[in-house]
Amino acid sequence: MFDTIQFIKEKTHELSKEIKGKALIAFSGGVDSTVCAALVHKAIGKNLIAVHVDTGYMRKHESKEVQQLMDRMGLNYRFIDASEEFFQALSTITDPEKKRKIIGNKFIEIFERVASKEKIDYLIQGTIAPDWIESGGELRDTIKSHHNVGGLPERMNLTLIEPLRDLYKDEVRHLARALKLEVCERQPFPGPGLAIRIIGKATKERTEIVREACAIVEEEIETAVKEGYMECPWQYFAVLLPIRSVGVQGDKRAYGYVITIRAVQSIDAMTCAFSKIPLEVLDTISNRITNTLGEHVNRIVYDITNKPPGTIEWE
Ligand code: XMP
Repeated sequence: MFDTIQFIKEKTHELSKEIKGKALIAFSGGVDSTVCAALVHKAIGKNLIAVHVDTGYMRKHESKEVQQLMDRMGLNYRFIDASEEFFQALSTITDPEKKRKIIGNKFIEIFERVASKEKIDYLIQGTIAPDWIESGGELRDTIKSHHNVGGLPERMNLTLIEPLRDLYKDEVRHLARALKLEVCERQPFPGPGLAIRIIGKATKERTEIVREACAIVEEEIETAVKEGYMECPWQYFAVLLPIRSVGVQGDKRAYGYVITIRAVQSIDAMTCAFSKIPLEVLDTISNRITNTLGEHVNRIVYDITNKPPGTIEWE
């Protein structure tokens, strides 16, 4: 059984000995980076600088909420809007691995900029075990390069510290509860963000579409869970497939994108089963997406693939 109190005590002690000076943490507001920031903040206080990068690929209102969270946690933070920089870097990229590498490198480039300006020597990352296992660690095949592993340049000027490296998601959630963090029940969101929920080019226009679709999926599922219609999935979101299909809108021909709804049950993200969402909930989601995004989207499908052979995300 994982002893959270012991882990917090030992890690905080270890980190306060290991970090001699200022450290930077990439703060996404997800469970992993929030737990990580809380631990390191306990160890070194204001010497921890939390950096939140708005990549343009965050969920609806997410970056603003993250900023408010950093305020409430009393963190010493910097907020960087780098959305134009990210859209520009990905404008022609379709290959999922290239997308991940470019995003990872951009993050590091931004962190190195802040670090050299503020004379920071350490980079803290909320990497957890499935991230590096699936990125080809320990002689395993690379399934996908999780951005917080695969994107790191070979020679980095910062010393990397990963306090949660050996933990699985359920253990990190236990830690979040022990640290009384408000994010402990949030669903995971990948580092590369919505960019890997758009198959093909992650343009600004496509990002707006998938952002709205993801918000609708989240809202409708959370409402259905609250009203007792279904169990809360481990993860639930939308993916934009930029193939087009013919449809009809009013009495006119439509030719729009496809949105797929993805919702899965999992324990540690290493495997998953697709969620058996009630058809009425799927119906509501489908109608809301086509009503809201009818100009761009005219077909909604539900992904019924388990992992393996699928993965949770589509890229
Ligand atoms: P997959 O798609 O590999 O996802 O079945 C497993 C879990 O990891 C999340 N994920 C990521 N998390 N950086 C992250 O921090 C990434 O690059 C990344 N890719 C996938 C995914 O959302 C799921 O929870």
